[in-house]
Amino acid sequence: MEQEFWLERWEKGETGWHRDDVHPELIANIDKLALQPRSRILVPLCGASHDMAWFAKQGHEVIGVELSRRALEDFLMRNRVRHIVTEDYGLRCYMGGRFQLLCGDFFTVPGEVFDSIDAVYDRASLIALPPEMRQRYARLMADRLKPGTPTLLLTLRYDQSEMKGPPFSVTDSEVRELYAADFDISEVSTKDVLKGNDGLRQRGLTSLHETVYLITRKERA
Ligand SMILES: C[S@@+](CC[C@H](N)C(=O)[O-])C[C@H]1O[C@@H](n2cnc3c(N)ncnc32)[C@H](O)[C@@H]1O
Repeated sequence: MEQEFWLERWEKGETGWHRDDVHPELIANIDKLALQPRSRILVPLCGASHDMAWFAKQGHEVIGVELSRRALEDFLMRNRVRHIVTEDYGLRCYMGGRFQLLCGDFFTVPGEVFDSIDAVYDRASLIALPPEMRQRYARLMADRLKPGTPTLLLTLRYDQSEMKGPPFSVTDSEVRELYAADFDISEVSTKDVLKGNDGLRQRGLTSLHETVYLITRKERA
């Protein structure tokens, strides 16, 4: 996916994936991450997700990474976060409250950003990427995350011939191909979510399932 594609989505306000509520699967499953107080949560490809504000309300620190400046500024404005703009790791960085939001390409974020990460929240990040980028993304996570780091991963599965991504369909077998060598994988739940996704139904989907996984970086051999 070209960066221009995403920047244009934000400029045109075509952000059908954005939710005005906190994702119910995050609320239902945050306990799976077994977070200590003030944990540092990485939210890759974070958009303007209110899930970040919810993590902060639970007392955690959020490190978000997002290409679009508009997305990050929308988030800060809507959540009334007083902030300063700095440059960290060579990237524009918005710092305020419990947030450190980096504006740039996730694939170029330096390794040191990952050193202090306690957990990862991936909603609509892996599934935003086309197949070959999903491999790079999973490889990067395996290379950078410390052993023991848990990720709450939400995927969507549908018949890819019914609709072009994004979001892309990511099957259970692909999740295992991408992560099994380096992560312990446990499936938390799979639900039929077609009803709540009118936008995707209008794009042609006749079936849509959301799966929540807990994946934990294994010890390095
Ligand atoms: C489908 S949206 C999901 C946003 C968010 N996770 C949510 O749940 O609302 C994907 C987001 O990833 C951003 N994005 C795409 N490629 C990226 C990259 N290489 N680095 C950082 N952000 C990226 C897009 O701008 C977009 O905001």
